[in-house]
Amino acid sequence: MQNLETTYLGLPIKNPIVVGSSGLAATIGGIKKLASAGAAAIVLKSVFEEEIKAEAEQTIGQQLGADENNLEFYDYYDYQVKNEVLENYVSLIKEAKESVDIPIIASINCSSSSEWVSFANKIESAGADAIELNIFKLPFGIKDDAAELEKVYFDIVRKVKDCLSIPVGIKLAPYFTNLGSVINRLSHSGVDGLVLFNRFTSVDYDIENDQVITGKVYSSADDYVNSLRWISISSADAGCDLVASTGVQDYRSLVKMLMAGAASVEVVSAIYKEGPEVIGAMLSELQAWMERRSFTGINDFKGRLSQGKSSNPEVFERVQFMRYFSGHKH
Ligand SMILES: Cc1cc2nc3c(=O)[nH]c(=O)nc-3n(C[C@H](O)[C@H](O)[C@H](O)COP(=O)(O)O)c2cc1C
Repeated sequence: MQNLETTYLGLPIKNPIVVGSSGLAATIGGIKKLASAGAAAIVLKSVFEEEIKAEAEQTIGQQLGADENNLEFYDYYDYQVKNEVLENYVSLIKEAKESVDIPIIASINCSSSSEWVSFANKIESAGADAIELNIFKLPFGIKDDAAELEKVYFDIVRKVKDCLSIPVGIKLAPYFTNLGSVINRLSHSGVDGLVLFNRFTSVDYDIENDQVITGKVYSSADDYVNSLRWISISSADAGCDLVASTGVQDYRSLVKMLMAGAASVEVVSAIYKEGPEVIGAMLSELQAWMERRSFTGINDFKGRLSQGKSSNPEVFERVQFMRYFSGHKH
């Protein structure tokens, strides 16, 4: 029997499959199903910085009606509502910890280093094994400087690491002007892991009804390639665990991410599409593949195909199709 143990944000886990943050882990029922399906750890549905603000504003609006300028009331309700969101989340963490015996990771979706930092302490006291921060600052400002946008990430890391003792991970989007450098610098900034990458909701058009609609919610099985490239490029010099996210839907992409140097992977869309049983299927196929290849543990092949170990490192940096098209007849 192969040993599938590995790590996630430096935490030891029994196998490389972590359930990524989503509505799959918003209830105790969902969490129990994922745990009994074989998940090594579960990231809870995120508390959204905007959600906390929006809910506060809505409730305050209802309670105060036209009297929005009554700042004393505003402060009172603001505090109450934020507390409610947090209390529900804290209860979910506590109940999850009592119900399953795998690491439970809290998730905060944020774009600034204020508002939610005080929540992080309560999340830690509730028993969360780690916190994953889904940070994204959309570069709306046409005069914004890339270095200033990047600084927000480092400020958040510093602030959160200063007040927590549990591991902290950051889930990143791939949209940086200098992605390789940001990954490398963040990995050495004191965080315990980087999750590469988050996938956003997209906008699409219904061309028969002239409507703007939400794009495809779930990733496809070949969407893993961007994460694969950047994990391959980054893993040799990374200062923390790299965790692959987006498009990991079968044992093949799972194996590829580990060979690129990921310590573990996060899976969401595959579970929505196929049910929690997909976790067990991926794990038994991983076992069979390792047996076939005579690998006894994850470290036997982790990073084996990373750019750092490649005899042909340029292949990871090739992005244009020049050779492909020049050799093809149409
Ligand atoms: C329905 C749905 C809900 C999600 N909710 C969250 C969330 O609350 N917080 C978060 O950080 N990511 C959320 N995500 C993003 C996933 O955690 C994951 O990063 C993304 O779906 C890519 O992984 P996948 O290809 O395995 O789906 C959600 C994704 C889906 C499909």
